[in-house]
Amino acid sequence: MGGSLGLAARELAGVRRVVGYSRSPATLAAALERGAITEAADSLEEAAAAADLVFVCTPVRLVLDHVRRAHAAAAPGTVVSDVGSTKAMLMDALSPDEQSRCVGGHPLCGSETAGVSNARASLYEGATYFLTPGAHVGPAAFEKLYDFLVQIGARPVAVEPHEHDRLLALVSHLPHVLANVLMTQAGESHGTRDPLLAAGPSFRDMTRIAGSNARVWADIFLENREALLAALRAYREGLDEMAQALEAAAEGRLTGRGGRAGLVPRAGGPGRAAPGGGRPPAPRGPRRAPARAPAGRREPVGRQAVPHHGEDPRPSRRAAADHRGAGRRRHQHRRPRHAPHERRARRRAHDLRAGRRGVRAGRRAARPARLPGHDRPRRRVSTTDDTIAFRPSGPLRGNVRVPGDKSITQRALLVGAVCDGPVEIVDPVWAGDPLATAGMVTALGVAVDGLAARAPRAVVHGAGLRGLRPPAAPLDAVNSGTGMRLLAGLLAGQRGRFVLDGDASLRARPMARVVAPLRAMGARIAARDGGYAPLTIDGAELHAIRYESPVASAQVKSCVLLAGLLADGETVVVEPAPSRDHTERLLAAAGATLRRDGAEVGVRGAERLALDRVVVPGDLSSASFLVAAALLVPGSDLRISGVGLNPTRLGFCEAARRMGGAVEWTATGDDGGEPRGDLEVRASALRGITVPAAAIPALIDEVTLLALLACHAEGETVVEGVAELRAKESDRLAAIVDIVTALGGAAELQGDALVIGARVLRGGTLASRGDHRLALLGAVAGLVCPDGVTVSGFGAAAVSFTQFTDVLAEVLPS
Ligand code: S3P
Repeated sequence: MGGSLGLAARELAGVRRVVGYSRSPATLAAALERGAITEAADSLEEAAAAADLVFVCTPVRLVLDHVRRAHAAAAPGTVVSDVGSTKAMLMDALSPDEQSRCVGGHPLCGSETAGVSNARASLYEGATYFLTPGAHVGPAAFEKLYDFLVQIGARPVAVEPHEHDRLLALVSHLPHVLANVLMTQAGESHGTRDPLLAAGPSFRDMTRIAGSNARVWADIFLENREALLAALRAYREGLDEMAQALEAAAEGRLTGRGGRAGLVPRAGGPGRAAPGGGRPPAPRGPRRAPARAPAGRREPVGRQAVPHHGEDPRPSRRAAADHRGAGRRRHQHRRPRHAPHERRARRRAHDLRAGRRGVRAGRRAARPARLPGHDRPRRRVSTTDDTIAFRPSGPLRGNVRVPGDKSITQRALLVGAVCDGPVEIVDPVWAGDPLATAGMVTALGVAVDGLAARAPRAVVHGAGLRGLRPPAAPLDAVNSGTGMRLLAGLLAGQRGRFVLDGDASLRARPMARVVAPLRAMGARIAARDGGYAPLTIDGAELHAIRYESPVASAQVKSCVLLAGLLADGETVVVEPAPSRDHTERLLAAAGATLRRDGAEVGVRGAERLALDRVVVPGDLSSASFLVAAALLVPGSDLRISGVGLNPTRLGFCEAARRMGGAVEWTATGDDGGEPRGDLEVRASALRGITVPAAAIPALIDEVTLLALLACHAEGETVVEGVAELRAKESDRLAAIVDIVTALGGAAELQGDALVIGARVLRGGTLASRGDHRLALLGAVAGLVCPDGVTVSGFGAAAVSFTQFTDVLAEVLPS
């Protein structure tokens, strides 16, 4: 990269002096010899002091340090940039002063060849060159860098640094991981023959980039860890879908209904992630007008002269690019002409490469094939970017099961992790939240068999009450509030330092509610801005407290009780109203000394816990979506079997019954203290009710559904004391009012109460806001509203309810 920049500067931009510095004298000598630099400096500082424009071309691990040193050594007007593949960490770390003259850069023209001997002046010709100015960038600095890049033939595109990293995770870092995994898998396969002997073009294409400089790539992966993990998770879900389709020998799902999913490249493939909205950041794509703004955030950076991310700022640049594009088009005309069918085939191939395929798919999505209950538009980039249209599809009938309980699965993983010896978990739900919690448990040195395969039985190899080991990297709770808050309690009394972090939604949720009681117990715990993740916990000796919680929250209660296991004496939690008690039931089953007395629960410090197995019942909160649909869709008659019937979770069914809904539940057994049974629901005429604040904890996750029922009931419904909904995965309270109103209903807030008028919903569109319960609400509303509901971001549903659409398909008329 550096060598080519030097050559390009001299040959294309007419720069006379190019000063180079490298730690390796041999590299410097080669660069001089090749003409990539005109003089060699003895230090980075010496090179920077002499320059108008500095390019740091090192592995990403060194970039920040070198950019800083160059900035410190350079004259006031000098601009410092780099060519690293990740940008967020760099730009976040730079101070406002540094940002004013340091602009991250990333040319998309890397190749497998490296070193000065492979340098060429034309490397940047036509290449998309991402620039990631920080919020404090100086317009003149940006201009200077931009001008230079245009002179060497590059196509600069400004993009927000985090957006850049997310894009690159998808189209570069993920493919590198996959190529390496494929190669390793083939290499380790122990058959009678070496699988690589059978490798043909498909394998070669898929693994061409495997084995690239491991050190360099490890650095890139680590720097872009969060975005890469998200991309890997989404990819894994795609693989799982394929595996499930194969297991079920479901040909339709393999070829995809309408031929888009499964074996056919997944919809939205290459083009969707493009910074220009319609094209991928193709390394050497044809020259056209610069890319449009990315779909993501578009914040102005700096003053007027600086472009919004992703936008080309100046018409003159656009004209220049068009001019070059015209040159390219003229050149293309000299290519041999092809017969029409050949041209069509070539165009298809080109479209595929350029990512245009999605455009056509999008057009087809306007009239999607009907699936039971929902239409899946053909385009799908990732599970968090799904758009699905749900529409009335007839009554829900039959007998169905729902996936396991999310709260219980997570508690089984966490309590299992501190038991002595193995704990079997039967029927865990491998949805997003439990997967995140399981990931944290394994990062703490506890093996979880069956996790990788998402098996119906898992075994947690408990490390003992004080056996959790500090991991090297922060623990990632992703979207799971339960995972983060409960684990904070368990970690407060361990030895070592633990950092708990999560996604943007979790980072915005209040953590002071667990930090305060833990500190009162002697925990050493720091939170961002006093009350938000990341949390940094330095294990400490804990002592018992009596905690009167201001919120009725099972997560807070559980956090304090779990910390209480490691404290001396009896730790007591008093709640304003009873919240779900799965932790208490599980701890009692594991041998903890537990005392329950009305709103008060106490746990004594323990020496050891032991548990053979936890059988996870179906998730009543997941079942509630089907209950609501069955109540509202005329003619429905549905049975949901094997659901958890813990009384602290039954609030929604009870409220629905009070509204006149035909909902019955029958206990059929009790697994380790958790009752389970069957639910029966029939379509019913409903009437409005008032739900008092004391009833809220038992239906806290179902207020969305209560609102939906209320719209279709006779008379007004008032749900009191729902302020807690503001602290969920989204501001669910605001979301409910917005959604009900947007779909044609009447909802408003009166203080802490949600008031829903009896105005039947028509339908429309709904964005999940990354909140699983809102995504699922939209699905159910779609089955009920005459116009249907199109839910964007439906993938969020996988945080709790995996395979929702499959379960739905089982109970809707085919
Ligand atoms: C949960 C408790 C509830 C609930 C969440 C799961 C749990 O949160 O909303 O979905 O597993 O303990 P709060 O304790 O914050 O009310």
